[in-house]
Amino acid sequence: MLTEKELKNGYSALKSKWKKINVRGNYQRPDEERLLNGIRCINSLDEYNINVLDMGCNCGILAVAASSKFRKAFGVDSDRMNKSVIRKAKITAKFFGRTNCHFTRSKFDKYIKDGHMRRNKIKAILCFQILYHLDDYSIDLLQKYLPELELAIVSVRPGRAGVGAGKPGNRFEMYTIEQAESFFCPHFSDIKVYYKDTEHPLLVIKK
Ligand SMILES: C[S@@+](CC[C@H](N)C(=O)[O-])C[C@H]1O[C@@H](n2cnc3c(N)ncnc32)[C@H](O)[C@@H]1O
Repeated sequence: MLTEKELKNGYSALKSKWKKINVRGNYQRPDEERLLNGIRCINSLDEYNINVLDMGCNCGILAVAASSKFRKAFGVDSDRMNKSVIRKAKITAKFFGRTNCHFTRSKFDKYIKDGHMRRNKIKAILCFQILYHLDDYSIDLLQKYLPELELAIVSVRPGRAGVGAGKPGNRFEMYTIEQAESFFCPHFSDIKVYYKDTEHPLLVIKK
């Protein structure tokens, strides 16, 4: 398990390792409350003998946290803004000694079209601040894959998701709890909302 103490202690060492690679922008700050809540939530899960995909994994911290609860953790990121996030993610996994984490630089639609979801036997997904980045085509592909999933953890940001970042007109532009629920609920019966009164509520969605 990646404890908060480990994360906080490791972060300054990680930051200096990440700095050595060409990183433009550093919007993922693993010590921020939103990610800590994500890690707390992952740590509270039972162990699952299935593989998980961290969609838009950025520096890989959530995939690394998930790697102790799932058989394998995969991460995908288009790395559009910053040519180094997959390298950062690999450094993160190595730093925490995880050998069951695998990261790919790809847009999500290409990842799913190329068959990586099925090949990697992905049965769970982490969607942290990613759905509002996806175009409708990618969201449709994800929707078709939902019946194959057993679990999803989704962070939302009601009313502010797309500010300065998301796809205009995206289905998740307002990224409310209700939008996320209605996307997942046809395939999942157990949806619980955590941290409801924070800026980034979290949905744990199970079959
Ligand atoms: C707001 S950041 C969130 C990063 C991380 N999940 C977190 O919660 O901190 C969105 C991430 O998704 C990636 N991304 C955006 N569009 C994507 C796409 N179509 N396919 C894969 N990754 C994408 C970006 O490169 C970025 O790293």
